[in-house]
This record gives sequence, C-alpha cells and structure tokens, in this order.
Amino acid sequence: MITPLKFERVTARGLRNLHPTELDFSPALNVFLGDNGQGKTSLLEGLCVAATGRSFRTDQIREVIQSGSAGLSVSVQVNDDGFCREQSVTIGAKGRQASIDGKRVASMAAYATHTPIVVFFPDDLDLVTGAAATRRSLLDRIALYTNPISQEWRLAYVRALRHRQRLLEKSCDDARALHAFEAIIVEQGQNYARAHSEAAQSLCRHLTEIFDVLCVHSLSLEVKFAGVELANAEAYRQELVKRRAGDRHRKRPSLGPHRDDLHLSLGGRSARHHASQGQQRLLALAIKLAELKCIQVARQAHPILLLDDVVSELDLQRTVSVFEWLRDTDSQVFLSTPRQDVISALAITKKEQRTFSVADGQIQHKSCP
Ligand SMILES: Nc1ncnc2c1ncn2[C@@H]1O[C@H](COP(=O)(O)OP(=O)(O)O)[C@@H](O)[C@H]1O
Ligand SMILES: [Mg+2]
Repeated sequence: MITPLKFERVTARGLRNLHPTELDFSPALNVFLGDNGQGKTSLLEGLCVAATGRSFRTDQIREVIQSGSAGLSVSVQVNDDGFCREQSVTIGAKGRQASIDGKRVASMAAYATHTPIVVFFPDDLDLVTGAAATRRSLLDRIALYTNPISQEWRLAYVRALRHRQRLLEKSCDDARALHAFEAIIVEQGQNYARAHSEAAQSLCRHLTEIFDVLCVHSLSLEVKFAGVELANAEAYRQELVKRRAGDRHRKRPSLGPHRDDLHLSLGGRSARHHASQGQQRLLALAIKLAELKCIQVARQAHPILLLDDVVSELDLQRTVSVFEWLRDTDSQVFLSTPRQDVISALAITKKEQRTFSVADGQIQHKSCP
C-alpha cells in the first residue's frame, strides 16, 4: 500500500518578498495564481526549504531571506499516512537549522529524506539541454531513495578520486598512496556505478510510459544510460593505472561513474540538439514525473509535487494531457501560474482544488470548490 503524504499547512516569515504567511492546503491540488514578480515561486521555494533545507532556485540559501530581515523561518505541518509532524527550517545568524516536532536534526541530508518532494521549475529544461552533471544529479537523487547507502558510496568515491588527482598533479609518484586510493576508487566506483545504472533503469521504465501519455502526437523517445562497464575490478584498476599520466595532464579523472550520463533522443535524434523548445520542456517535465514515480515505488509513499510555471510554454493539447496526468496522480500538487485561463482548463481535473491569489507578496485563498 502506497502511503499518502501531504502538506497541511505552511507558516513562513522572512521569505523573499512574502508577507508573514500562514496557509492551509488542499490535500489534492493547490494553485497559486498571480502576475509575474508577485511571489508565486517564492512560496513554492519556501515549501522546498521547509521539506529539504534547500532552495531549488539557488545554492546560496541566504538569498532566500527577505532583504532587510535578520533571518527566515518556514514550517510545514506534514500529514504522513495519518500521522502529523511539524518540519521547520530557520536560517539566520546561527546558520541553517532544521527540526522535526521541535527536535533539532543533525544532518540536513537525513532531514531531506523525511518528506520526499519533486520540484519542476523553468530551469529544469537543463535536464534535457544542459550538461551531464544535471542528469547525474537526477540519478543520484533517485539512487538516494532507492538505495540510501549509495550516497555514502558516492561521497567515498569522490573523496578518493580527489585525493588521487591531487597526488597525480603534485607529480609525486607515491605509488603506495596512489594504489591505496585506486583500490578505494574501484570498490566504491563499482558500487556507485551500479547505483546509477539501477536508477537509470527505473527512470527509463517510467519515463517512456509517462512521455507517451503526455505527448499528444506520438514521438518516439529513446533513453540510454551512458556509463562505462566497470564490472571487472582488476580491469578497472589496471585502466586507472594506465590513465594516470593522461589524468595528470588533463587535470581531471577520465574514467568512472562521475562521468555517467543519460542520452535522450526523440524520433531518433538527440533531444538536446534537435528537439523544439516545447518538446524539450515536455520531456523535462516527463523526466520529473518519472522521478516522482521512481521515488514513489522506492519509498512506498506519494512524493509531493511542486510545479512552478509549468504550463507557460505548453500548447493547449499538452496542457490538457499534463492536467489529465495531474488528475490521476495521488500525489499532492502545488502549481503556480500567471495564466488565469489555465484555471478554467484545470476544472477538467475535477480534483479537490484550492486556488490562492498572489499579489505583492500577499497570498489569499480565493476559492474552495
Ligand atoms: N531576498 C528577497 N527579499 C525581498 N524580495 C525579494 C527577494 N528575492 C526576490 N525578491 C522579489 O520577490 C518578488 C517575487 O518573486 P517571485 O516569487 O519569483 O515572483 P513570481 O514567481 O510570482 O513571478 C520579485 O519582485 C523579486 O524581486
Ligand atoms: Mg515565478
């Protein structure tokens, strides 16, 4: 049985341009409607900060604090299969602190896994058009839920890789130290590569299915995991030794799962180079919905979905197919849009819906059909 997971209420202070805010949500669909620059993205960002301690907009978390304010605090009341908890994050003079039901949580990474959320925002087009690192982070995130220990493999692997590279670049041929680091790289790299490959398999399965549903005029999507074969430990180790000189010269390690990628093609052509912007956006959205599905299967819970300005560049047919998907999902959805016309299209979802208007940092509940 897949358990429901909902934000019931948010309280936020000192968050970007928002006035102190307290909102109760629908367990199904919540829509934030307002012109540009009013605070829609800021509200979704606040939910993301409350659930994970991080922003999807910036790595510089202090940017989220309202100008002129000493700090921010944002709390969400989470209903997890009938059990309620309060998750809070404060950012201020003492840095970032997270707590659950008033108890401080030591590690932000551990905190972030309590309430899985999936966010789609306009920069996520990078999943299709951007560098491999973006798609690798996606695989890392999926692996974190499907196989939590993969985070430790990744950290140990990256640490050993960095040490080896530093030794190589110092040109000190400390053969014993190099050998030791390469032994760790092989062991952790094999694990990490396997975690990537399993995450990619799970993603591919869901992605092709979801893309078919969203894509009105059927376009064949092909997703291929691009990672090297590292199953033979001895061959991996020998290859690392062979590449020492080249890696020293190039100043970066050339072999291993830190270079993994996903190749996406539409109608037999690279989606990154040949797809239209609308197709790329739809594919990026489908990737996010597939991520949600992967986490759902792994966690046996419905991750909460935050969709920032998702429909701006979709045509009507695609918008309808996205809303049909939203109608059928059991995940709680938060959706922001500047388009009033979208609200009437949303009526087709026939879901319990709450609409909020966002103007000049004030958010008001408009209706509760
Ligand atoms: N740290 C901050 N403090 C105060 N206002 C901010 C801060 N960061 C951004 N803003 C302002 O918040 C407003 C709302 O931004 P945003 O939430 O992105 O709007 P929307 O998504 O509705 O288009 C913008 O006018 C922006 O200039
Ligand atoms: Mg916005």
